Amino acid sequence: MTIEAHSPFEHAGAPGATTSTTTSTTTRTTTGAPQQVAASTSDASKIYGKGDSEVRALDGVTVSFEAGRFTAIMGPSGSGKSTLMHCLAGLDSLTGGTASIGATQLDTLGDKQLTELRRTQVGFIFQAYNLVPTLTALENITLPLLLGGQKGDQKWIDTVIDTVGLRDRLKHRPSELSGGQQQRVAVARALASRPTIIFADEPTGNLDSRTGAEILDFMRRAVRELGQTIVMVTHDANAASYADRVIFLADGRIVDEMADPTAERVLDRMKRFGE
Ligand SMILES: Nc1ncnc2c1ncn2[C@@H]1O[C@H](COP(=O)(O)OP(=O)(O)OP(=O)(O)O)[C@@H](O)[C@H]1O
Ligand SMILES: [Mg+2]
Repeated sequence: MTIEAHSPFEHAGAPGATTSTTTSTTTRTTTGAPQQVAASTSDASKIYGKGDSEVRALDGVTVSFEAGRFTAIMGPSGSGKSTLMHCLAGLDSLTGGTASIGATQLDTLGDKQLTELRRTQVGFIFQAYNLVPTLTALENITLPLLLGGQKGDQKWIDTVIDTVGLRDRLKHRPSELSGGQQQRVAVARALASRPTIIFADEPTGNLDSRTGAEILDFMRRAVRELGQTIVMVTHDANAASYADRVIFLADGRIVDEMADPTAERVLDRMKRFGE
């Protein structure tokens, strides 16, 4: 990854600061400072299956993700982390309660509107990259924009490509890229349309620690320097320490929360889950 002396971020507009005004709700923190909420749930529940095979994946989750912040979600396997992100991203629907992106409550949208909101306001980074194997890196990055009939902001896309260090790999197909490079394509794809919020489900789970650290550093800079909002699931205390805040889930409920996490404090908290 190229980290230049003069960060390319310096000359880029802050998308979180400029694009979310029409869609975000404004709340007040205890200090009275106005905070934009990029995504939220209220008493969210999700039940899979019926009768004996019923699984309560989410059990009354109320949470807000402030714009321009980097939040990590942690918790044991099966605690509902992916379910929460999928329901917030409009990839799955809740059984009860509500999920919103900005001020838009997802269950009020029709299929077409939901697809449009997902395309324009939500970026999703999967653990398994989910790149299209027959397309080049560049085509993968711009695919969501092309599908929406948009060209996108070329200057911005160039900034993203240079920052993730993919300039000399743009013509390669995913099979010709390393795992870390494929994940960088996935991160660039999520950033390309300047979404209101990016959800990342264990984005560094398949990467070696050095490449993982590069991706995490990049995501943190996207938040700090570009005002991007990111919510990331991770099992790794070190990865969580890149975030501004950690939310702990267990059995579909939020059981704890930590501001300005360090790896040590997160590890300490995880021990109490028996992980
Ligand atoms: N499509 C589905 N059908 C039935 N049960 C499901 C489905 N998806 C998830 N579940 C169940 O819901 C619960 C929460 O799953 P989820 O994938 O959200 O966990 P997670 O916290 O992301 O776990 P992991 O860390 O292993 O990825 C689990 O018990 C899981 O088996
Ligand atoms: Mg998961």
